[in-house]
Amino acid sequence: MAFATTDLTTQTARWTRKDLLGLRELSAEEIRGILQTAGSFREISLRPIKKVPVLRGKTVVNLFFEASTRTRTSFELAAKRLSADIVNIAPQHSSLSKGETVLDTVRNLEALKVDILVIRHAAAGVPHLIAQHATSSVINAGDGAHEHPTQALLDLFTIQEKKGRIEGLNVSIIGDIAHSRVARSNIWGLTKLGAHVTVCGPPTLIPPQIERLGHVAGGAGVAVTHDLSSAIHGADVLMLLRIQHERQEAMLIPSLREFRLRYGITRERLEAAKPDILIMHPGPVNRGVELDSSVADGPFSVILDQVTNGLAVRMAVLYLVSGAPKVDEEEG
Ligand code: CP
Repeated sequence: MAFATTDLTTQTARWTRKDLLGLRELSAEEIRGILQTAGSFREISLRPIKKVPVLRGKTVVNLFFEASTRTRTSFELAAKRLSADIVNIAPQHSSLSKGETVLDTVRNLEALKVDILVIRHAAAGVPHLIAQHATSSVINAGDGAHEHPTQALLDLFTIQEKKGRIEGLNVSIIGDIAHSRVARSNIWGLTKLGAHVTVCGPPTLIPPQIERLGHVAGGAGVAVTHDLSSAIHGADVLMLLRIQHERQEAMLIPSLREFRLRYGITRERLEAAKPDILIMHPGPVNRGVELDSSVADGPFSVILDQVTNGLAVRMAVLYLVSGAPKVDEEEG
């Protein structure tokens, strides 16, 4: 497939946002536009020279207050493949560790004329706060248990790639829903694009009123079950989530062994699944807890395809926000 420059021009013209903060605020049309743009960029990673000059002269800053392997690395590679300059800031080695506030840090980065800030933070809403004060574009790389929009976009991209559609599919999200920003962003994205979403886990890990999330998004509601067999039965996609110990104030399950017994995906349990089921996981995977190695590495798993597609999706997001009118351009 050739690099579809005309498609990219059309998508840039349609994209009007300075920032990408979450899927809740995006329309189905905007989500489809990002996925189409990512389709154009995916081809670049298959070339012998994996670089295009579309962000030459732009500077991207990765500001990650929480650990990351996939998201931080793929944003860095995405920026490099678009010929942008990229700076990685580790808060523990910056003046944040001396008491400088996040907003002062951002003001200082902006004084250095950066263009895009990619932010991950343990507190929900930090990227939104920064976006209100920054003239640079802000991309949310995960804020607390709130949203992880680029993860959901790469999940949508992978489902579309493997199934040829999203509308009408049955997607079950299983595990620690309460503390998962991936679950929230996926619920917004999947319901807006017409999928039927079921969440499954122990009652302590399912937040109250979760059924209404899809309705708020203007899509169908979300079904809830605490029974794993019901979540597997008829599902086209199983999206597994790890138990997020770092976001739990109290132990909400008796033990990991107990969780595995009731909710772990084993090869035996998959015998009741559709023959073309997709097994997805955003990573990091806790093998032997939410899913066994035989499933994580098995024929239905698309876990590493998700990672590969994350690069194309993040290239698309960097490209789109970089072309959006900034406040002073709009006013000028
Ligand atoms: N899925 C995800 O966000 O992985 P990382 O924490 O490694 O970025």
